[in-house]
Order: sequence, then structure tokens, then C-alpha cells
Amino acid sequence: MSGEREFLEAAKISELEKGRMRSVKLKGIDVLTANVDGRFYALDDRCGHMNALLSMGTLRGKIVTCPFHFGVRRYRKRED
Ligand code: FES
Repeated sequence: MSGEREFLEAAKISELEKGRMRSVKLKGIDVLTANVDGRFYALDDRCGHMNALLSMGTLRGKIVTCPFHFGVRRYRKRED
């Protein structure tokens, strides 16, 4: 791994209203994007339990609930 980062456009800011999330496929990977109180987040859209699309679940604050078995994931700001 080279350590270099690559940035890809996942969505336009205007396409994602506050409190909403959506799925986009980037380089074959399902990515969940969300607008949480004007902050934008992206994470793997696949649930680690049985691979459900998390973007089909619900978003409350920074918590995404999986639509299949209600597992939860929390958005965190990456500190680096
Ligand atoms: S598939 Fe997400 S909690 Fe089971």
C-alpha cells in the first residue's frame, strides 16, 4: 500500500438533505453517504452481520440501524 489517498466524488452536497442517507457504488464498493446536521459522512454500506445495505435502514442522529436485524453503526469523525 502506497499510503496515498484517493478521493472520489460520492455525491453533490445539494443532493443530500440533512438527516438523509443514500447509497452510491464507487469502484464496485457500496458506500453509504449521509448528511448529519450539515456534516457529511461516508462508510461501507454493507452490514458486517449478513451484508444488508445499511442505507435501506434508518438514520437517527449519527446512528444507522440495519434494516435486517437492527444492528447499529455509529458515525465517527476520523481523527488524523
Ligand atoms: S444484516 Fe445487519 S444486523 Fe443482520
